[in-house]
Parts: sequence; C-alpha cells; structure tokens
Amino acid sequence: MTATTDRLEVPVGAGAPPLAGQSGAAMTFRWITNQVPTILGIHERHGDIASIRFANGRGGVLTRSPDDIKQLFTAPPELVPTSTANSPIGPFVGESSLLTLNGSQHLRHRKLLLPPFHGDRMRGYADDIATIANTEIDRWQAGELRKLQPGMQSVTLEVILRIVFGVDDAARHEALRRAIVQLLGLTERPALLLPTFIAAVRWGKLIGPVKRYAAQVDELIHREIELRRSATDLEQRHDVLSMLLTARDEDGEPMSDQELRDELVTILFAGHETTASALAWSFERLVRTPAAMDLATEAARGSDPDGVLDAVFQETLRNRPVVPVTARLLKRPFTLSGYELPKNTLTVISILGVNHHPARFDDPHLFRPERFIGEKPDAYAWIPFGGGVRRCIGAAFAQLEGRIVLREVLRRATLEAVHPADEVRKRRNVTTVPGGGALVRLARLTD
Ligand code: HEM
Repeated sequence: MTATTDRLEVPVGAGAPPLAGQSGAAMTFRWITNQVPTILGIHERHGDIASIRFANGRGGVLTRSPDDIKQLFTAPPELVPTSTANSPIGPFVGESSLLTLNGSQHLRHRKLLLPPFHGDRMRGYADDIATIANTEIDRWQAGELRKLQPGMQSVTLEVILRIVFGVDDAARHEALRRAIVQLLGLTERPALLLPTFIAAVRWGKLIGPVKRYAAQVDELIHREIELRRSATDLEQRHDVLSMLLTARDEDGEPMSDQELRDELVTILFAGHETTASALAWSFERLVRTPAAMDLATEAARGSDPDGVLDAVFQETLRNRPVVPVTARLLKRPFTLSGYELPKNTLTVISILGVNHHPARFDDPHLFRPERFIGEKPDAYAWIPFGGGVRRCIGAAFAQLEGRIVLREVLRRATLEAVHPADEVRKRRNVTTVPGGGALVRLARLTD
C-alpha cells in the first residue's frame, strides 16, 4: 500500500523503498543536527533510494541515483515543482523569491535575475572580488593560527554588500553588515534553530529573536531599495540592485519593492554562507592533501592554464557539498529506481549521496582535484548547484568568486594543517561547514 494524500506522507509497504529508521521525531532531530552522517548512513544501509519519515508523519524518499536525478532535472517543471515555500527557508525569503516561486512567476524572476550573474557583466566583478579578498588577507599575520571560515564569511558578505546591493555609504554599509551578521549568528545556535525550523514549517512564520533580527535586516534593505529608486545615476551603476531596478520583464513591467526585497534576501541567503563555506572547505581539504596543495599553489602563483583552481573548487563542492540536499514534489506518479512513487511524494535529491556515488567516482571519499582537470563534471552526478530549471543562478558567479579568492590567498599565503585529522562536518543554517572553522597555520605571508 502506498499513501497518496496531499500531506506528503511516506510511501510505505510492499512496493515502496525501504524505510530508513522508524521514529519520525528521531529522524527530524538527526536530520537537523547531524545531517551528513545521517544521509551517508542511509545510503550505506539502503543504497540509492530509501523512504524517510519526519515528525508528524510527513516525509518522502531520498535518492542518490543519477538516473532518478536526470529524470527529475529534465521533467517539465510543473510536474516537479519545488516545495521550498513549505520548508524552513520559506518565511525567511518570502513568497516572491526565486527559491519559493513556481510556474510562470518563477520563470519571470529567473529571466530578470540571470543577466547580472552571467557572461561579461559577471566577469566585470573579478577585480572587485580580488580587492575584497586582499583586504581580508591584509588583516592576517605570518605565523599565526587562524580559522579561515570567519574570514571567508567576511569576504563573501562584502561581495554581496558591494557588488549585489551596491551599498557605498559607510554608515549604511556597516548597519546592514552588522544586522546580517547578528541574524545569521542567531540561527547558528541549535537550540534556536530547531524551534525556528519547526515554527517555519508548521506555521509558515518566523518567531522570537530570529523574527526581530530578520525584521531589522528587512527594514535596512527596504531603505536601500527606496534610496536607490531615487538615484539619478542608475544606468551607470554596476551593482546588481541597480540592474534589477532598471530590468523589465517581457510585458515591460519592472520588479515591485516586495519582489526586490525577496530577491535580495534570497541572494544573501543563498549566496553568502554557501560560497564562504565552500571556500573554507577548499582550504580545509588542501592543507590535508599536500599533492593538491602543491598543484593549487603553483597554479595560483602562475597563470593556471589548465584550470587547476577551478578543479580544486569543483572537487571541494563534490567532496564537501555545502548544500547536501535539494527537493522536488512529484505532481504525477514517477518511477524512480524501479519504485512506483505516487503523486505528492516529496523527493529529496541527495546531492551529498550522488557526489560520492561509487559507480560514478573512483575513490569517492578522496579529495582529488585532478579528476576535474580537463574534464567537464557529469551533469547528473556532480550536482552541488542542483539542476534543471532550478539550477543555482549563482553557480557561475560562485565559481568565479571561488577561483579568485583561492588564487589571492594561495598567491600570498603558505598554509599548513594544525591538526592532521579531517574537520568534522557541522551544520550552520542550511549549509555544512568545517567544524573546526577551517583552522590553519599561516606559515608564510607576502604582500
Ligand atoms: C558555492 C556556492 C553555492 C552553492 C553550493 C549553491 C547551491 C545551490 C543549490 C543546491 C540550489 C538548489 C538548486 C536545485 O534545487 O536544483 C541553489 C539555488 C539557488 N541559488 Fe545557489 N549556491 C551557491 C551560491 C549562490 C550564489 C552566489 C547565489 C547568488 C548570486 C545563489 C543563488 C541561488 C538562487 C537564487 C537559487 C534558486 C534558483 C531557483 O530556484 O530557480 N547561489 N543554489
């Protein structure tokens, strides 16, 4: 028997994928607090696909099968919409966010948002990113032990404040930066994260201190939108907000203030900690893999004709994907991994699982950037940015930022591991971060 209600119940019984674990409450707790070992453990026990049940009986299936993933990424979007609006992310980003919209509105927003994050416009940001990275490196001291995660957070937040929001007034810049850091710091605390997630899913709203701090960030963003609307030099400005203000959809309509707010918060939410964590993991991996570190350092200090730094970032995102899962809702029955799944099954795509699929990657748990030198990653097995019409719109931008920050750090700094053991994978909001903060010794540093 398989459930077919609208409540996203878990397929059960004969003909359904095996159920991973029994208690929904225990799975919810492990999913939020210990996600990586939980997901890897499910695949170890059950292979490509398993049913998962969360608290209050909701759930779905978790798949790491490249064939299932191909089917989901290439299906017409109306048959596999996102369910992010009903996830903990929904109330943060709002109803007019690329992350939560479906159908024609999703397409409209993608067309409006894509141009600044692609092609020459995007490449035009390279020098600004290098300057921001160097300002951070200038704060470092030769010989010190340093956690690189906070520094990478500062770099990627600065990139968003300057390049995306275009805030050039020092006081407004500092107010916004401070409010964002406070909000993200709050949601890092597991004791707050759990009730916040539960309230967001159950009632679709934010609660407590998270609500207060989020309102403060909102107010400052609305003020930026208002000020920028009255700017007289919009056409000459290069920041993303100014471009979005002048962008028009196919009917010649501009984005409303609410749409702009939701998309700015979305970019902040989706683009800041993700890129910072990927960079922190790159350094955590490199200091523990001397051959890769030698290769990357040589590339950073030369002209990198083979694209080694891109390969390092790609291998980091495979080996330590900062977003471990994404999801689709089935709007008609689908056959995945041989199981007939009913309409309304929530399908959790295991980015972490497929990125380590033993049939697609040799020695999947080893960090080996060489696997991507001169090789294009497989679109359905290397999926740190998801895929299909919902593929991350910041993927190219994040990889540009990754390459430039890696280059600037490795050009100027010689990094060494402090502890030989891998850092544990810890959850921070929706991303997986190095549990030790990517601690390194800065053996040498140049100007
Ligand atoms: C290493 C950095 C990043 C990673 C690993 C990452 C990962 C992801 C993933 C897994 C998704 C879901 C895709 C899917 O469901 O198929 C996504 C969506 C998205 N990301 Fe990223 N992201 C990164 C950086 C960025 C940046 C820098 C931005 C903004 C400039 C951004 C903006 C977005 C947006 C707006 C979406 C929603 C797309 C849609 O639903 O149409 N991300 N990202």
